[in-house]
Amino acid sequence: MKKGIGIILTILLIHVTMLSGYTGPPPSEPISEFPKKVSTIITNSCYDCHTTGAKAEKAVKALDFKNWDEYKLTKQITLLTKICQVLENGEMPPEKYLGQHPEKALLESDVKTICNWTKKETEKLIK
Ligand code: HEC
Repeated sequence: MKKGIGIILTILLIHVTMLSGYTGPPPSEPISEFPKKVSTIITNSCYDCHTTGAKAEKAVKALDFKNWDEYKLTKQITLLTKICQVLENGEMPPEKYLGQHPEKALLESDVKTICNWTKKETEKLIK
């Protein structure tokens, strides 16, 4: 019985996801498959606040990596630009947080990795 409900819910969920997420043909390379180097940095330093379920409501609203595929193309492009910007300005992760979690700080090389990726990804998206 429980299994049956689970299956129905799963089917419903898939339908809802397909309907609401449809914004045109998918890009040739799904951006959600972030390159390994990029996703390691983001998972380590950003996921505490920027994913569905994180306690930082404002942060999730501003940028939710788990929801990346649902963002419209224009939103993805804007966010990619901002991601590089906040890192180059040293605004993210927030200083207060780094005080408690110094191991989450980004190296200069991490910032370069992310910014190279955001630029490449943007070019791909606007093609
Ligand atoms: C301790 C929680 C926390 C962590 C960790 C964190 N952020 Fe944020 N971030 C926030 C909050 C809160 C906001 C919303 C700020 C606001 O609306 O004033 C935000 C906003 C942003 C924005 C939107 C800025 C804008 O102007 O719209 C970007 C982009 C961003 N963060 C990127 C990152 C990246 C990339 C990382 C990892 C390297 C990261 N953040 C790590 C809390 C965090």
